[in-house]
Order: sequence, then C-alpha cells, then structure tokens
Amino acid sequence: MRNRGPFQRAGGGTSLKEEKIKELIAQMTLEEKASLCSGGDFWHTKGIERLGIAPSMVSDGPHGLRKQDQEADHLGVNESIKAVCFPAGCATAASFNRELLEEMGEILGNECQAEGVSVILGPAVNIKRSPLCGRNFEYYSEDPLLATEMAGALIKGVQSKNVGTSIKHFLANNQETRRMSSSSNIDERTLREIYLAAFEGAVCKQKPWTVMCSYNKINGVYAAENKTYLTDVLRKEWGFDGYVVSDWGAVNSRVEDLAAGLDLEMPSSNGENDQLIVTAVKEGRLSEEILDQAVARILNIVFRFAENRDKTAVFDRDADHEAARKIAEETIVLLKNDGVLPLDESEKIAFIGKYAKKPRYQGGGSSHINSHKVTSVMDAAAANPNIIFAQGFDDEKDEINETLVKEAVEAAREAKAAVIFAGLPDAFESEGFDRTHMRIPDCQNALIDEILKVQENVIVVLHNGSPVEMPWADKVKGIVEAYLSGQAVGAAEYDILFGRVNPSAKLPETFPVKLEDNPSYLFFPGEGNSVDYREGVFVGYRYYDKKKMEVLFPFGHGLSYTEFTYSNLRADRQKLKDTDTLTVSVDITNTGKRPGKEIVQLYVRDKESSVLRPEKELRDFAKIALLPGETKTVSFTLGKRAFAYYNTEIHDWYVESGEFDILIGKSSRDIVLCQTVMVESTTQIKRTYDGDSIYEDIYKDPAARAVVERFRKKQSTQMENQEKKEPEKSSAAKEAITEEMELAMMKYMPLRGMLSFDKGSHKELEAILKELNSL
Ligand code: BGC
Repeated sequence: MRNRGPFQRAGGGTSLKEEKIKELIAQMTLEEKASLCSGGDFWHTKGIERLGIAPSMVSDGPHGLRKQDQEADHLGVNESIKAVCFPAGCATAASFNRELLEEMGEILGNECQAEGVSVILGPAVNIKRSPLCGRNFEYYSEDPLLATEMAGALIKGVQSKNVGTSIKHFLANNQETRRMSSSSNIDERTLREIYLAAFEGAVCKQKPWTVMCSYNKINGVYAAENKTYLTDVLRKEWGFDGYVVSDWGAVNSRVEDLAAGLDLEMPSSNGENDQLIVTAVKEGRLSEEILDQAVARILNIVFRFAENRDKTAVFDRDADHEAARKIAEETIVLLKNDGVLPLDESEKIAFIGKYAKKPRYQGGGSSHINSHKVTSVMDAAAANPNIIFAQGFDDEKDEINETLVKEAVEAAREAKAAVIFAGLPDAFESEGFDRTHMRIPDCQNALIDEILKVQENVIVVLHNGSPVEMPWADKVKGIVEAYLSGQAVGAAEYDILFGRVNPSAKLPETFPVKLEDNPSYLFFPGEGNSVDYREGVFVGYRYYDKKKMEVLFPFGHGLSYTEFTYSNLRADRQKLKDTDTLTVSVDITNTGKRPGKEIVQLYVRDKESSVLRPEKELRDFAKIALLPGETKTVSFTLGKRAFAYYNTEIHDWYVESGEFDILIGKSSRDIVLCQTVMVESTTQIKRTYDGDSIYEDIYKDPAARAVVERFRKKQSTQMENQEKKEPEKSSAAKEAITEEMELAMMKYMPLRGMLSFDKGSHKELEAILKELNSL
C-alpha cells in the first residue's frame, strides 16, 4: 500500500506543526536529508516514500502557468500545457492597480491548484536599470516602490489560494549579458534604496513562500552563496521564513550556498551536489543543524501546499482569458493624443502592421506561455466592416518589403485614419540576451514615414516590454503603448482605440529620447564580468529629473479620454518627528465627460540634504475610478521611510531634520500640488572628530561649534590686539578679503589648520578634539 503522507490527514485539521517536521527529520538518514535539498527533476522537489513525503511541483510564472509535463527546460523551448497568458510585468505595472494584480494572482493561484503546482515562479521584480535588459518585459519598473507594491499584490492574490510564489531574482540581476558569471558592483546605499527595496516591501508585507536567488554575483559574491543577503537581510531583517530556491543552475558551490542560506537547489544536479553536502557534514565542515534547517524550510512549504490542496479547483481557460482581457484594459498607456482618439466605428480605418493580426503579447524564455487562444485586434474588429487591413511589414528580418509597404500606403490613403501596430519582434527582446539598441526595426520606422506621407491621422500602437526610440513621435497624432499585454491584448486595444474603454494606465518607467540619455548607458552591460552601477541611486526618473533632462515620455505619464482636476491638498500636521506618521489628502474630480480612472502619484522631495539625493521620489500612489462630475478624496499615510535615505554611517534609514515637499502629480513631470512639512529626526548620529574634520561639518552640531568658537574667540582677541598696533595693515587686508569671504573659505578648513593659520598648538588641538569627542 502506498504510504499515506503525514500531511494527508483524515478530516483536514490544522497544519503540520514544526515538531512534526522535526520528528520526520529525526527519522531521516543524512543522505535523505541532503537529497531533499535539490530537485528530483526539472520541476519537482524530491520525496521520501518511506516517510510519506511526496515530490512537489513548481512551475514558471510569472504571468501565466508554464507547466511542462513532458520534456522540461527553462528557456521556453519545449511545449508546456495550454494555458492563459496574462499581461507581462511591464504591462501590469502600468496599471498601478494593486487590486487588479491581486485578482490576477488569485486566478493564477487557482490555476496552480487545478494543476497541482505548489509554487509559481514569480513575480520578477528586478529594477529596469537599462532599457536594454532583454528581460525587462517581465520586470515591473525603474522605481522600487512601484515594483514592490505590484509584486506584493500579486503574491497576496496567489497565496490566498494556498499556493506559493517565488519572488525573483534576488538580487541585482538587471541584465542578461553574462548573467551567470557577472558581478553587479553596487554601493551599500544604492543597494538599499533601489535594488533591495524592490524586494523589501513585498517580502515584509506579503511573506512570499519562497524567494529565488539570482545567477549573478553581488559585489563579487554569488547571490547563491551570499549570506549577507540570503540570511542577514532576507531572514533576520525582513523576517522571511520560507525557503530560498536557486535560479535554475545558479548553484556554484553547494556547501557554501547551503551555509549562506540557499535551501533548495534547482533543478537536479544528479546527486552530485547532494553528495558534497553529505561529505561536508561527515567531515565537520558543515553543521548538520544547517542542513536540518534547510530541510525543515522546504518541507514546511511542501506540506503547506499539500495540506491545502483544493481538489475542486478548475482551470477555466475561457473565463481566465476574459480576465486577461479586463486586466489588459488597464495596462495599455495612451501616450499621445492630438484629438485623434477615440476613433469612430462608422469611419473607415486602416489597421496596418503584422501585429494587428499576430500581436506580440509576451516575451521569450522561461515565462513563455503556450496560449490556449489569442485575440488580435483584427479578431476584435471582426464585426466592424469599416476596418481594412494591410500587413505593412514582416518581423522575421529587418527588411523593407516594398509590396507590403505599397499595400499599406494604399490602405492608409483611402481611410480616415491609419493605426499602425508596431513594436519589437521576439528576436529583439527575450530572456538570455540583451538588446543592443533601443530602436524598433528600421523597416517599421520606414513604414511609419511612408504612411505619414499619405495620411494625416496616424496612430502608432506599440508592442514592447521596454522603452523604444520614436523618431516619428512629433509627426503622428496618437501613440499607444500596449506593452506585452497578454493573449487578449487585441480586444483591449480595440476597445481603447474606439473609446469603449477609457485608458487608465501610466508609464512605470521613463522613455528617454535616446538610449545615450539613460544613466546606465556608459556602464551597461559592464566590462567583462564586472558591472559597476556607477549611476548609484540615480536610476530612471531619479536621474532625468536631477539633470532636468528632456525625456520622450516621463515616468508616470499616461492620458485619459476624460480630464481630472486636483485640489485641496492638506496634511494633518505641518511638523512631525520621524517616528510619527503624516496623513496627506487630496481631492480629485473628473471634470471631463466620460467615466475614467486616475492614478494619483505622491512624491517627496528633501529640500536640503547633506547627501546627494534624487530631486524627488515616488512614495505612494492610488488609482481611483470617477464618474463625470464626481469627486473623491485620496489619502496617503507616510512614515519615516518616505523621508529617509539609507545612511551608511549607521547602516540604517535616516531622516535628516528639515523641510520636505509633499508633491502630488499626474506624472513625475506634471506636479500639480505641493505642501511643505518640517520633519525632525529622532536619531542622533554620534560624530567623531579628528584633525581632518572641517569647520562646516563641526558647526552643524551647536555644542561642537561652541567648543571650537571658544578657542577661536581667544585667537581673535589676540589678533585684534595685533591690529590695534598696525591699523593700516589691517584695513588693507580687510578690503581684499571680506568677512563673508573669510567665512566661506573657513568652512572647508580642517581643524588641524589652526596650527598653520590660527597660531594654535598641538596641545590645544588635542584638547579641543578630546572635548569634541566627549560631547
Ligand atoms: C529563469 C527563472 C526561471 C527558471 C525556471 C531561469 O532561467 O531565470 O526566472 O524561473 O529558469 O524556468
């Protein structure tokens, strides 16, 4: 008889307790324990039949279920089951809609329950540092808050169905070039404020069941064996209690990895690495406790799923396709509209471009879904006799096809408007390699130019996972960024183009004018195996804003067919301590004629800082639905982190006392309301002084200033006496150097300068330093 699993209890009951897992582990041999720490095959953990532990299945993610029953691979090469492709991360982030992501998560969770998948491998939250990263389409944003909030919502949804998620790729995996060998070299503050922050909120608030470590190194140490991040930050600081799984093949040195906090190796290493663990324990190089801990973490998740199987779950592909359409409606960004949209269904409209019939709606690689059906915009237009179609270009090769262009020009000439469905072909954008430039294929740009010659109402609809250059942006009347919006994209596009749906998405990233404007341009993809993130915290709009640089479309930009007016910004206090919270409210009114949804963005600017900070940073956002004439109040609650930067002296978040602007914007470049508040720090940073400490820094602390001024006073009395003796000399010097100039020069003077310029002695310097350091 097959052993009844310890988790398959009659009558359901409570979940398996820690002690039960301990008991099981106590019955295992060393070899059995080690065996549980790697995959049985590509998609399953191992089981131990005699103890009733069954293998558990995991599958990609993140925007659909890629469950492979047959030949397995991690690059989307072999077939997976027919499933539903939802909009990819690039697109769902544009919705800025947490509830929507949660609903999508619930659907994915249900699909996993129906298919017996314990963990879906996503969401992927890596920061979109460069437009060139081949995998940007899977990622959410250049902004860590938006990324972590979107990821958190998806996790919440999936896990509400008792299915695990695997937030990935932890950490600093922002390119595909040399992804398995390169080192992302990043300073501590940038890691905290940008790259870790993309994970932090989701991990702390939504407790993903698992975390997937990335392939790359961080400052020279592989993510898989990086104890600082896998254990100190993830578990000790953030309270993560699930298992850490390696990205497929990310294990470098199995024993070190395990000790650093990497629990599960995927896929299998054919027992090779399990044996290394056994030997290390036997030779006393690895404590058995660490192994036991990893096994316990893995089993905890395996049982959590097994105990909560929903045998009634059904994967209803048609219903989920409909859901994918509803989601896509909120992921398509209207970038430009010179009054040409929405279109009129009674007019003759030319739909031009291959992607009108065969949309590009997902990226290549491990996230690739075997869609059970696809709705193109031409499918959606089936009932409209006024639509004419011309393919215009092919995307197999970047070559102008004269015949296709001619047909397209003819179609455009006879129509009231031409909508060109353009974008990046698969070959331009996929897991495993990066883009080499930011252009769409030249043949598509050439087609757009040709159409512009015969048609004044041109709209371009783009399909891509990351910014592209748009040399024709000023000449066309409408631009729609459809991103990679899943298998129902065509239906959503049609409804937005004809105004049945009011667009409500905004850009989760900046579109620079040209690639060279991007802050990582000089350092991407690095030299050999070293990628220096020299732009620091100035990623995306944090850089473009600081530089006051012209961009094609700013972060947070997106239009609607209605108008929104913002008013009445108020804060519940004008002054607060960094331990307090601040509640900010603003009224939004739909002053246009159609129902619509608006994304309200809240940024914070530190008005004066002693460290380099971005011009402003997104600290919260909300999406609200408003009927024409309706007003709603949106409230945000801000805590310490909204004002803080990561201080590397104290290795903690720190608010510098002073004034902060609360900025409410329709986009990062369209700030409509501002209110200033005063925030006072409750953290005293203990300063230490030496001879190199300069006056400006010392004077920041009034007590320290008093000590130094006492000495200076003594010196100036001596000087004044000298001046009285030689009055002509002193007035000539006063003319050359004003008091103001003297003060300005003084501030950069190190304390030891008193020996050279203030007639001080070593003894006096020592006495001052002693006093300063005892404050
Ligand atoms: C990818 C992961 C994916 C895994 C399994 C890797 O190549 O980086 O995102 O989950 O394969 O397919």
